[in-house]
Amino acid sequence: MKSPNGKFYAWRMGLKAGCEVAIMKDYKLKILLTGSTGMVGKNFLEHPKCLEYCIIAPSRQELNLLDYGSVEKYIRHHKPDFIIHAAGLVGGIQANIERPVDFLIDNLDMGRNLIGASLQAGIKQVINIGSSCMYPRNREEALTEDMVLCGQLEPTNEGYALAKVTITRLCQYITAQYPGFFYKTLIPSNLYGRWDKFGQTNSHLVPAIIDKLHRAVVNKQTEVVIWGDGAARREFLYVGDFADCLHRAIAKFDTLPMLMNVGLGYDYSVYDYYRAVANVVGYTGEFVYDLTKPVGMARKLVNISKAESWGWHSRSKMEEGLRKTYAYYLKHVFND
Ligand SMILES: NC(=O)c1ccc[n+]([C@@H]2O[C@H](COP(=O)([O-])OP(=O)(O)OC[C@H]3O[C@@H](n4cnc5c(N)ncnc54)[C@H](OP(=O)(O)O)[C@@H]3O)[C@@H](O)[C@H]2O)c1
Repeated sequence: MKSPNGKFYAWRMGLKAGCEVAIMKDYKLKILLTGSTGMVGKNFLEHPKCLEYCIIAPSRQELNLLDYGSVEKYIRHHKPDFIIHAAGLVGGIQANIERPVDFLIDNLDMGRNLIGASLQAGIKQVINIGSSCMYPRNREEALTEDMVLCGQLEPTNEGYALAKVTITRLCQYITAQYPGFFYKTLIPSNLYGRWDKFGQTNSHLVPAIIDKLHRAVVNKQTEVVIWGDGAARREFLYVGDFADCLHRAIAKFDTLPMLMNVGLGYDYSVYDYYRAVANVVGYTGEFVYDLTKPVGMARKLVNISKAESWGWHSRSKMEEGLRKTYAYYLKHVFND
């Protein structure tokens, strides 16, 4: 089978990361996806819309984004029509506190290399993935896209946030300076779901709670410790919904805003998440609070007006997302 640019592709339905995937009919776009082995990348690849594209999804072994020379060569060789940058060094609060140097340098270098090489190779359409950590800390109101760089960042993940802000600005500068180039950024809230990390050292809140409460049930614990007082509020979007938004962003790239939040538009307290996960996994014990632990921002909620005007909103309710994630955890993680 031959694509419009003359290359041959294997017909693979497995959508495995690190391979080239093609469809039998129209090649609308050749898309390069970074971070294909990560949570966002795998959920993107699992989406049925992938069958409409020719997707190049290199693993880190095939394309190390920290090596500019390799990135430039790879992009020049494959000449994608479109790039989605979903690679990054991503971790929970403890990992960010312990390794701020890695979170700053790795994310900055990966983004700089990929975006710089894309510009050099003349790639006109890029979707960069930012993070709601880019916003100022402790704002009660929902965070709008124009609030980036309008206040102090949360110190517990400042290195990661600085890298994300810099690459987002780089994308905006390129779009402003080079006519015909559109490097846009989506800013997802916290994400959870299939292919998440569930360990207690490098995971985010929701998968960490699932793992903690499932183990509490298995070990017949009557008490589980919550970091802080449980009052901090967080917004977690089911990652399948984010993958859905990414696919819509490709299909409707022309109307996609330059910078757009992607979230639920409402949030829950940490305690609410514990309660909801307890219902899903069947934990009936008590919760106790460790007030010596760091809890990060009091609130972090993104404003989704732009996404709604653009025509997108999330579909999965919290309980539904948690149930799907727990089913994934039981099948792929706990028994590994
Ligand atoms: N997870 C969230 O809650 C969340 C929220 C907001 C924004 N985001 C953003 O969404 C994007 C994807 O996050 P995620 O949750 O999918 O992260 P993830 O599961 O940790 O995946 C990260 C991906 O980046 C790849 N990667 C890391 N270093 C690399 C390198 N040097 N060269 C090439 N690839 C490299 C990883 O490859 P390996 O598998 O080889 O490590 C993996 O495929 C990131 O930009 C993140 O900042 C995530």
